[in-house]
Amino acid sequence: MGKRESFKSSFGVFAAAVGSAVGLGNIWRFPYITGMNGGAAFILVYLICVAIIGLPVLLSEFVIGRKGKTNPIDSFKSLAPQGKWYISGILGIMSAFLILAFYSVIAGWTLEYLTKAIGNQFVGKDVAEIGAMFENFIADPKRTIFWQFIILGLTCYIVANGIEKGIEKYSSFLVPALIVIIIILDIRAITLPGGKMGLDFLFKPDFSKVNGKVILDALGHSFFSLSLGAGTMITYGSYIKGNEKLGTSALSIALADTLIAILAGIAIFPVVFAFGIEPNSGPGLVFVTLPNVFPQISGGYIFAVLFFLLLTLAAITSTISMLEAVVSFGIDKFKLSRKKAAIISTILIFIVGVFASLSNGPLKDISFFGNNFLDFLDKLTANYFMTIGSLITIIFVGWKLNKKIIEEQLTNGGMIESNYMRTYYFVARYISPIAIIIVFLASIGILG
Ligand code: PHE
Repeated sequence: MGKRESFKSSFGVFAAAVGSAVGLGNIWRFPYITGMNGGAAFILVYLICVAIIGLPVLLSEFVIGRKGKTNPIDSFKSLAPQGKWYISGILGIMSAFLILAFYSVIAGWTLEYLTKAIGNQFVGKDVAEIGAMFENFIADPKRTIFWQFIILGLTCYIVANGIEKGIEKYSSFLVPALIVIIIILDIRAITLPGGKMGLDFLFKPDFSKVNGKVILDALGHSFFSLSLGAGTMITYGSYIKGNEKLGTSALSIALADTLIAILAGIAIFPVVFAFGIEPNSGPGLVFVTLPNVFPQISGGYIFAVLFFLLLTLAAITSTISMLEAVVSFGIDKFKLSRKKAAIISTILIFIVGVFASLSNGPLKDISFFGNNFLDFLDKLTANYFMTIGSLITIIFVGWKLNKKIIEEQLTNGGMIESNYMRTYYFVARYISPIAIIIVFLASIGILG
């Protein structure tokens, strides 16, 4: 077997993993669930979830990946040949596959909206027309499948080029580009007259709004946003060189992902409030609400283009990480070349994904536990597969994996300090698993 590929630089590791974490989750999902859960108080709960669950699980996935040095399933097998821990790897790869099948649909919507923004199509339309434009588009199989195909094709192309020349290279300029765009949008948003109410909504918590559902949504979103339980961070961990500091990487990735979600909120809510729009309008927030607003602000044309460009770039750096988790398995298991593994995986994902595209149009009456196929895949992965996969991962590290291996990974074999080891180990053993079990039990009532 040839030498395993690796990320060339620390910045490459950071860019690729931040690229995976930052996606539609931050810019489309985070703002709308923050809006639906009352704003600042939700954000606080979310921060706690990231700190006590997200970060420890992320570090654990890196430890397993770098020690196992292979795909998520075989990494568990090589670290624990006897047990059934590798089920976590299977769930992860299935999640990556299924998430990509539906995520590519929504990423396709962002491409359609990018072309609409470039074609100045939001101008001169009233609220009802903009709403109808969205409804008609998502029901149109030809256009949605076309854009989904483009997204998957681009993703396949980047992944086929490998770790250093594909994922690392593209993430290293897409992620900084994304940060620049979001900061420009933030400046526009906070300088809008009336925008301050949006900032209050984001930063002045009203604790009377915190209830079980708020906590559950925050926990579920922390898995989704940090790409946990989907095999991606284990796979990326397997490409991290021995001299990189795993603790520092995990911490900076979690911070960057959280910061970008908050920056997305700052770009969106002042605009929403300045124009008297309801913050709790749900998944349509960025596709239905914002196109009403862009034509009314100065520089709206360019900000609309930048916004949908941002969404598209963020989505692509995430889709490549999902495909990579599947492809790394294909390469190791079936001894395929990277290119073949990428093409075959993409075709299989596209076949399932087409049904997700059709589920808002011709197949919209077919229901899976009360959801259309797209929403069903979303709930099945986020509420079940990712949650159970992450739970198994953290219990594995806290209770099964030899403590010496963890220490060796955190200290790079004794070369660096890891004074956070005791805290991490305690959290991984007790706090995170208990918290995840609570979320899971609560989420069981949710599918359907
Ligand atoms: N974290 C990505 C986002 O926020 C989604 C994702 C989930 C990516 C699972 C990879 C694996 O959009």
